[in-house]
Amino acid sequence: MKGITIIKHPLVQHNLTRLRDKRTGPQEFRRVLSEVAALMLYEATRSFAVRPRRVSTPLAPANGFELEREVVLVPVLRAGLGMLDSILQLIPHARVGFIGLKREETTLRATFYHKSLPPELSRFEVILIDPMLATGGSAVAAMDLLTELDVKRVRLVNLVAAPEGIRLVRQHYPSLPIFTAAVDKKLNSKGYILPGLGDAGDRLFGV
Ligand code: PRP
Ligand code: URA
Repeated sequence: MKGITIIKHPLVQHNLTRLRDKRTGPQEFRRVLSEVAALMLYEATRSFAVRPRRVSTPLAPANGFELEREVVLVPVLRAGLGMLDSILQLIPHARVGFIGLKREETTLRATFYHKSLPPELSRFEVILIDPMLATGGSAVAAMDLLTELDVKRVRLVNLVAAPEGIRLVRQHYPSLPIFTAAVDKKLNSKGYILPGLGDAGDRLFGV
């Protein structure tokens, strides 16, 4: 699938399976989701632009690199929060914006309840973070907002995607790079991913 990177690294797949396991309680779920997010970030940032930077070691000058652009991390509340801390540890200078979206249970339509994003987003590399891509409604709503705010470079870091969600995102944002650990079979009648991992927000926060 064009523009979709399925991260098959053994540690990512091992941890994804622990997250799928219904016996994994909130404490372990939080820890494993955080670990898997850090592993996925390596792949998701592989194409970040760098520019040359010359520094002096204690012994001699050295040619190195630095990231060309600053980074903004945008977790989609609530479940995206579970992937934020470990990513922030890897990019400690990143800024963080928040998008609060809630899917209505019957219509499955995502509505905003919170938006707080740094100004001048067009300057940044933006990483949109949401472990679940089900109908795709939340990802498209988040992308609509980022597009209104003139974001130029954005990628989606996701854990489990449904084909339906990928199709919807592709219709609206054909060139959005998507990084995921799995593309599952389909959605059930209530809009949950099968086999998926259940309700990520509830499992994360023990609701
Ligand atoms: C979940 C999940 C995604 C969304 C995916 O959030 O974290 O944001 O559903 O579904 P979609 O692709 O069909 O839009 P939810 O709205 O349940 O909120 P929560 O994270 O607070 O549980
Ligand atoms: N949101 C979740 O948390 N899980 C799903 O399977 C679908 C939407």
